[in-house]
Amino acid sequence: MRAVVVVPSEKKVQVLEHPEPELRAPSQVKVRILDVGVCGTDREIASFQYGTPPQGSDYLVIGHESLGEVVEVGAAVDGLAVGDLVVPTVRRPCPQGCPACRVGRQDFCFTGDFTERGIGGAHGFMTELVVDEAAVLKRLDPALREVGVLVEPLTIAEKAFKQVWDVQDRLPWFDPNAAETARGLDHKAVVFGAGPVGLLGAMALVLRGFETWVYSLERPPHPKAAITEAIGAHYVSAAEHDMDALAEQVGRIDLVYEATGAVRPTFALLERLGQNGVFVLTGVPGHGKPSELDLHKLMRNMVLKNQLVLGTVNANAEAFAAAARDLAEFHRRWPAALAQVISGRHALEAAPALLEQGGDGIKQVVRIAD
Ligand code: BGC
Ligand code: ZN
Repeated sequence: MRAVVVVPSEKKVQVLEHPEPELRAPSQVKVRILDVGVCGTDREIASFQYGTPPQGSDYLVIGHESLGEVVEVGAAVDGLAVGDLVVPTVRRPCPQGCPACRVGRQDFCFTGDFTERGIGGAHGFMTELVVDEAAVLKRLDPALREVGVLVEPLTIAEKAFKQVWDVQDRLPWFDPNAAETARGLDHKAVVFGAGPVGLLGAMALVLRGFETWVYSLERPPHPKAAITEAIGAHYVSAAEHDMDALAEQVGRIDLVYEATGAVRPTFALLERLGQNGVFVLTGVPGHGKPSELDLHKLMRNMVLKNQLVLGTVNANAEAFAAAARDLAEFHRRWPAALAQVISGRHALEAAPALLEQGGDGIKQVVRIAD
């Protein structure tokens, strides 16, 4: 079968013939891949700055944001049937079985020896068929066929916001009597960056009752601004308004969800975080020169305003379940805006060029099968 691979030793990204996988245990499931999303991590892998093939292979099948259809189930599999729409998680436990991996929380692996399908040490999903344990597959509502590939990037927000609720239990942040969906009360969130992670995070925040601002470079009219307005959030272009203007518009910033990986502006925004605020970092910057920061101001703020900075990576089964639920709700509330997050669909043969050059727009998706 065909697979899109990177060959680090030859610095090549290409379509190869890759052996078809077979069920090796009764707990496994075979999945026909339908869609695979491309993100910044994939582009780094395709430029050989990140990513490692599995042991013994000189290439890595790329792709970690996927959507598939079950085509075969092992005898011991419960709760999944042929024809089900599913999304696999990305990270697999470390061989040492650290305390986190042992309980299925490899998103908090202590050793760093986990593998990630399509990223490090394990083949990914940009191919025709894959086999995995039933336990790592999240079933989706069949109505999500066109947008289900967005589950994985949404899990980043789901894991982040679960932690935000947990840590903000340190203070009376929410009205305990308010309904779950209106818990934000008059809370204000800024999403920094309007890529797929940012826009999906903004949808999740609006759903939770936050008044939400999306701060990103593009000048409106732009699809990113249109999507933001369509979900009831405010779009502010960084090309038109500096951070002081943003902070003045928002007032007290209770939560920042960073989705840019841009270091200097991120810390400039941290200087503007409000009383008791939480600042969530999700972008992964490359290596750069040391930067000048107003460390006195940052430390003074963090202490005197009870602030918290939280970094978060990857996601667990619970976050995938939450993403599947929230994506269905986004699809019900804002079908057009959600569909617009996917700005291009490409054939498998076009994937190497897409990975090397990058596409414009928001989320680019490789369609493997209909
Ligand atoms: C993926 C995560 C992964 C991270 C670091 C992200 O693009 O969504 O699953 O943990 O890259 O490799
Ligand atoms: Zn990704």
